[in-house]
Amino acid sequence: MTQITIRRPDDWHLHLRDGAMLAAVLPETTRHFARAIIMPNLIPPVIKSTDAAAYRDRILAAIPEGDTFEPLMTLYLTENTDPADVRAAHADGLIKAVKLYPAGATTNSASGVTNFDNVRATLETMAEIGLPLCIHGEVTDHDIDIFDREAVFLDRVLDPIRRANPGLKTISEHLTTKDGVDYVMSQDNAGATITTHHMIINRNHILAGGIKPHYYCLPVAKREEHRLALRAAATSGDKRFFLGTDSAPHTDGAKLAPCGCAGCFTATNTMSILAQVFEEENALDKLEGFASLNGPAFYGLPVNDDTITLTKGDPVTYPDHIPTPDGPVTVFQTGSDLLWSVDT
Ligand code: DOR
Ligand code: ZN
Repeated sequence: MTQITIRRPDDWHLHLRDGAMLAAVLPETTRHFARAIIMPNLIPPVIKSTDAAAYRDRILAAIPEGDTFEPLMTLYLTENTDPADVRAAHADGLIKAVKLYPAGATTNSASGVTNFDNVRATLETMAEIGLPLCIHGEVTDHDIDIFDREAVFLDRVLDPIRRANPGLKTISEHLTTKDGVDYVMSQDNAGATITTHHMIINRNHILAGGIKPHYYCLPVAKREEHRLALRAAATSGDKRFFLGTDSAPHTDGAKLAPCGCAGCFTATNTMSILAQVFEEENALDKLEGFASLNGPAFYGLPVNDDTITLTKGDPVTYPDHIPTPDGPVTVFQTGSDLLWSVDT
């Protein structure tokens, strides 16, 4: 197969930031994607429905002319989140999910949750109204090895949350481990997003032969066996797994610093990379499910009407970086030519 047409994809986990960065990176998503779940980890975070409405308006104002894009807003769960505000924002159609960051787990997560007893009422409300909880699934305890933080989270946090809230739809975001894949497959009402980059890199790519800051993200990429488990899950056709790029722009200045930021910027070339991954796994017929069908099904939203066509041919050229007023944002590189181009 050298050409494939699929329903227009959506990105079920995206960081757009704000201001000049938002304006610079949004076209990289709207070129190929119809919708995206917008992460709320701004400074300050998107906590209340009024914050989400204002942020949505800033995103809508930044959409390039000629593109159609629907930002699917989320609220950042804090121990002070008001369940009534969550309920109203959901009833209005303003938000499609609430995001749980364990406090300190990643970029701008200081306002996240430390004591889960304090968010019980919100989780109960969400289970009742069918609003999904998107979860950054890593424990933050300093005595837990960074490569074990996802697996430990499953036992210590996710499983207890799910047992306490049987009706709650959870989305384990940016899965990085076989343990996470196995857990999701053992559950009802559980979904998971998988990023493009975690299907390409393992931890050797970050560290062997010199440190590669542009491959550093959170959760950090794990051993090869985990990368293979993610590829198998994504390309299996299992409806619980869908695309969430976690495309996360940071300027080169912030990435290449002595304490560099976590995040891979994959919005630009994700669809070309995915076509290659699915082809390598003999699963091109499963690409549409992963990128365009399984996410809407899990969220209870319609699929997109229009399509994109991917064609295999000469190497496709993507920009090395996206210029922004704050400095360049480097686009994720796989290390080999991308042969699938995208026509929209
Ligand atoms: O690598 C990451 N970058 N992981 C996250 O969870 C957050 C994101 C960001 O906001 O930069
Ligand atoms: Zn993220």
